[in-house]
Order: sequence, then C-alpha cells, then structure tokens
Amino acid sequence: MKIGIDHIAVYIPNQYLALEDLARARNVDPNKFLVGLGVREMTVPLPEEDVVVLAANAGYRVLKESNVSPSEIGLLIVGTESAEDRAKPTATHVHELLGIRNSCRLYDIVHACAGATYGVLSAIDWLCHPNHSYALVIASDIAKYGKGSPGEPTQGAGAVAMLLGKNPRLLTLQEVNSYGKNVYDFWRPWGKEYPMIDGVYSTQCYLNAVEKCFGGQDMIINKKSAFLYHTPYPKLIRYAHAKVVSMIDGDLNWERHFEEYAAITDTYLSKVGNIYTGSLWLSLASFFEHCYLSGKKNLDELMRAYEGCYLFSYGSGCGAILMKGEFSPTWAEMSQHFQIQQGLAKRVKLSVEEYEKLFDGENIPSCSSTNGWFKFEGVRESQRNYAKRCSDIQ
Ligand code: CAA
Repeated sequence: MKIGIDHIAVYIPNQYLALEDLARARNVDPNKFLVGLGVREMTVPLPEEDVVVLAANAGYRVLKESNVSPSEIGLLIVGTESAEDRAKPTATHVHELLGIRNSCRLYDIVHACAGATYGVLSAIDWLCHPNHSYALVIASDIAKYGKGSPGEPTQGAGAVAMLLGKNPRLLTLQEVNSYGKNVYDFWRPWGKEYPMIDGVYSTQCYLNAVEKCFGGQDMIINKKSAFLYHTPYPKLIRYAHAKVVSMIDGDLNWERHFEEYAAITDTYLSKVGNIYTGSLWLSLASFFEHCYLSGKKNLDELMRAYEGCYLFSYGSGCGAILMKGEFSPTWAEMSQHFQIQQGLAKRVKLSVEEYEKLFDGENIPSCSSTNGWFKFEGVRESQRNYAKRCSDIQ
C-alpha cells in the first residue's frame, strides 16, 4: 500500500527584513550573512500571528485546495518548538479553528526541528489501519534567537501543512534510517524566552547525523535523486552535501552535484529563514514548485531529472531521520497550488526599526493585515483567544 503526502500548503507571514540591512545595523560585513551563512531575507510575523495562527492558516489552505473536508481528518499532529503553552497542545486550538471532527486523535510533537517529521512517521503508521483515511500534520514555528545574537540572521517564521493519505497525489514516503544521541547543541530550559545554542557544536552534531543517516549499513545512495535537507541556514547544507557525495562511489565533483541535485530550493529558503520544524518540508514544497515552474509538467519529465528524493530531517538534542520519497503521477496538479514564490514576491519590506518593534510584540502602522484567515486576539484570564478574519469561513 502506498502512503505519503497528498498535498502541502505553506503559510509564510507577509513581512521580511533584508539581512544586508540587519548586517549594517549590527556593524557586521553583509557578506558574512549573504555569503558566510547564505541567507538573504528573514520572515517576521505580526504580533497577531503566533504558532497557532500560522498552523491554522496553512492547515486551512491544504484542506481547501485538496477538497478534503475537516470531517475526514482522523489524526491531527502539530510539530512545533515554539508552542505558547507547556501543557495544552497547539493542536487543540488548530483543531477548533479548522472545524475538524471531535472523533480525532490530536497532539503536538516536540523534538526541536524534527517534531513534524516524527509526526509524518506517526501518521504513516496510523494510516496503515484499513479504516483510517486522512491525517493532517502541521509544522509551525517562529524562530527567535534574540536581537544581536549570532543566531539572529538565521531567524524565520512559517508553517507547512501536510495532508497524508493512501495513494497520495504528491509523493509516497518511506523511512530509510534514523539516528539519535543525547547532545546539548540547541535547547530551551524552562523559563527561557530564547533557545540556548552551542553554535559551532550544533553544526558538528548536524553533520555527524548526516553521516550516520546516509552512511547506514547496506545503504547505497542513489546519486540521481534530489537531496532535500533541513536548512537552518543554506550554507550548512553545502557542507552536508559534500559529506554525502564523499560517501557515493565514483569520482563526483560535489559542487557540481550540489548545483544539480541539491541547490534547487536555495532561493526560497534563503528568503524565509529557519522555520525549524517546517524547514525540510518547505524545502520539499519549494522543490516541487521549482520543478513545476521550470516546465517539468508530468511525471516522466520529472523522473528524467530526478529519481525520487531523499529527505534529511534533524532535530537538535538530537534525533535525525532520513526518508526517501517517490513522486506520484499527479505531482504537478498538486504543485501548481503552492504559489510560494508568488507569496514571497508580495511581502512587505521592513526597516530594522520596524523589525525590532515586531520582535518585541509591538504593532507597527505599516503592517496591519496578514494574508491569512485567522488571528490571535490576546490573552484573557490566562487563556489565549483566536478569531477568524474572513467571513468566507463557516
Ligand atoms: N565574508 C564571507 N564569509 C564570512 C565573513 C565575511 N565577511 N565573515 C564570516 N564569514 C563566514 C565564516 O567563515 C563562516 O563560514 P564557514 O562556516 O564556512 O567557516 C560563516 O561566515 C559563519 O561565521 P561564524 O562561524 O563566525 O558565525 P557565527 O559565530 O556568528 O555563527 C552560527 C554562525 C553558529 C551558525 C550561528 O548563526 C548560530 O548559532 N545559528 C543558530 C544555530 C544553528 O542554526 N545551528 C545549525 C545546526 S542545529 C540545527 O540544525 C537545529 C536548528 O535548526 C537550530
């Protein structure tokens, strides 16, 4: 039985900061960000866009575009590292906003940037039951490291909703390898507003996990696949790919191979920033959109360029998963809905001053509306309140 992702929808807030401007404001050579880290822009959410709102906006879109009713969803998982509540799952709010049926299993998975990937694996297991039809897994995060911190230029925000089902219209997924080890590379103790990071060590842990997942026993890497990676910042995946290519038999030039098989999603990810749990899945959606826009409109054309794809997910702490994706014949019909590039082109550019205000939770007059369907309305009696923005939602 084929199980995998039927459709994907991405929600990226409508504001961004050019990292060249941030570098100047922080007295850093812009090339450190643009070349050294490979980042160009970062997404900045409005105060009314928390992780629930991001998740619900992506979830609403994926259901609408796939013509699947909320009453058909039997499992809802939200992967997030930036939840607003330590006990009440983000999924409970999303469940209500999307109008999903009550006979639904719903929970959050926290594992740094890999929460949604573990959610996808759980959904695949759940879908093996003959009576289960559709699962919704949403990755939603706001990455904040603090003003002036080394991680600041790698911040981002966004959500990726994935509808999983049988005989999926986008791609079939299979786990290839998993890896886990107790390390302190990126963590958030109780009461800390921002995560703590051992920056250089975190990159070593990431690259070590790449080596362990791709270098598993009996593993033969298909060099004609597309290679999609969790992308905390684009420069790191160049190092990851160099490692992977060194494990492939033959005399491959890693840089040339990277350009052909892995750099495909760079232009998108370098404009959004790190969206933690959604990063790998944004990479997957960007890959499909890029292929669609570059004229590969059917399976044969896509398969001439790539024999499926590898998906590498890394969650600090750490846990890593390598999956293999097999494209479905209807991939192009689904990919035409993504419109990620179109959404990015419409965003509003912020000044550093405006970014800093939004970072501190203040509203700014130039950005008063979002492109989404839901909003956070504030806290009353320690309870978070949400509302629908659009009248076209029942
Ligand atoms: N021109 C061009 N390049 C320059 C430059 C200049 N003027 N100045 C510096 N550089 C280069 C450096 O040589 C370096 O390149 P290499 O890595 O190729 O050597 C790069 O820019 C970065 O420079 P530094 O190492 O000095 O940067 P830093 O100390 O400020 O921090 C960082 C870099 C550790 C990644 C920091 O951004 C950070 O802490 N980020 C958050 C943590 C993170 O993303 N970790 C990734 C793995 S963990 C994970 O995957 C989970 C997750 O999502 C968080």
